[in-house]
Amino acid sequence: MRALCWTADGELAVRQVPDPELRNDHDVIVRVRRSATCGADLPLLTGQAPGLAAGDVLGHEFLGDVVEVGAAVRRHRIGDRVVVCASVACGACWYCRQGLPSCCDNGSTDPSTSEAEWGHPVAGCFGQPRAAGGFAGSHAEYVRVPYADVGAFPVPESVGDDRALFASDAAPAGWLGAEAGEVRPGDVVAVWGAGAVGQLAARAAWLLGAERVVVVDRHPARLLMARQHVGAETIDRRNADVTAQLRELSGGRGPDVCVEAVGGPAGEHRSLADRFTGRARVPEAVREAVYACRKGGRVFVLNGGVRHVDAFPAGAVVHKGLAVRGGRQHGQRHIPMLLDRMARDELRTEYLATHHFPLDRAAEGYALFRDRPQECVRAVFTPH
Ligand SMILES: NC(=O)c1ccc[n+]([C@@H]2O[C@H](COP(=O)([O-])OP(=O)(O)OC[C@H]3O[C@@H](n4cnc5c(N)ncnc54)[C@H](O)[C@@H]3O)[C@@H](O)[C@H]2O)c1
Ligand SMILES: [Zn+2]
Ligand SMILES: [Zn+2]
Repeated sequence: MRALCWTADGELAVRQVPDPELRNDHDVIVRVRRSATCGADLPLLTGQAPGLAAGDVLGHEFLGDVVEVGAAVRRHRIGDRVVVCASVACGACWYCRQGLPSCCDNGSTDPSTSEAEWGHPVAGCFGQPRAAGGFAGSHAEYVRVPYADVGAFPVPESVGDDRALFASDAAPAGWLGAEAGEVRPGDVVAVWGAGAVGQLAARAAWLLGAERVVVVDRHPARLLMARQHVGAETIDRRNADVTAQLRELSGGRGPDVCVEAVGGPAGEHRSLADRFTGRARVPEAVREAVYACRKGGRVFVLNGGVRHVDAFPAGAVVHKGLAVRGGRQHGQRHIPMLLDRMARDELRTEYLATHHFPLDRAAEGYALFRDRPQECVRAVFTPH
């Protein structure tokens, strides 16, 4: 089959790769209908992706049709249209049973690396280096989906492909930011980043009862979308004192909840010296969120690209009594609820699919997503 591969020099190319096969009784094979770019892919394009090997297939936000079913799969039949959680979890370990599937002990084929880096193994993800899962990605004609009863969900007939696609990753990520940031009715919520994840965090904040939702970014076209489609207020950070404006919009206190959903290549926050020591500085948005947040408020970090960082304003966390949390999406828990909301028109996401490309032009789609993110919020690939 054809698939978008990372090549040795960090370039992307559509190549012929072997068709995926059922390897485990709990697998299904999905014929891909749609597969989208994600901000989390951008660091993989800089060539600084430890563990990516030439020929690895990228992509993790996708939906498609079930074409083969493993012997132990109970919930899926050939022909089902399913959206698949970008993150891979077993559904049976202690963490999965606690409702924390992105903390799954068994989701990665190479847990030793994340154990060394984070202290524990964590869930896998399609289309990432071995250390983050080791599962071939979705920018392909077909994908093997492990633990299919846990991670794949039938899409209601009334929900179109371009809407359901976002239930795979951006919508559960945005939902997590708002829900685990403990948005309560009447709250003022600020979101950094007007990509798909940030816009869907803003939408989730509305759905959880926020009174004001403010989105911060530097791209006017994305901010316009956040106003038009999410009903958020916006701050263009290029010409604003973000902290002062947020304070003004929140009765002088600062937002109750601050969600960080910014992207950017992994190297962006590094000084030259840091590159040699392997360290990076805290992304500007995290620092700003900690400064802007009201005393006793909640800061939630979604950026999967942060690693070991310095210059974290830890004193503000103590003296302002903040709760600072982070997390990867728990789609296995949230996708059915998100699909329900999509079916009820409470959650409209298809406008985020700004550009469609046949799979053969996926490299071009990534270039557009990377270089002109103000116009391209998601490049969506259609392999068939
Ligand atoms: N935790 C999760 O489960 C999960 C899932 C998916 C994506 N993510 C992460 O969410 C982030 C956003 O993903 P996306 O697909 O929307 O990315 P994206 O690249 O499309 O959008 C990111 C936006 O952040 C903006 N930005 C950068 N620096 C900023 C700053 N200092 N202040 C305000 N805005 C700033 C950019 O201009 C851009 O519009 C990425 O870091 C990605 O890794 C996390
Ligand atoms: Zn993603
Ligand atoms: Zn598990």
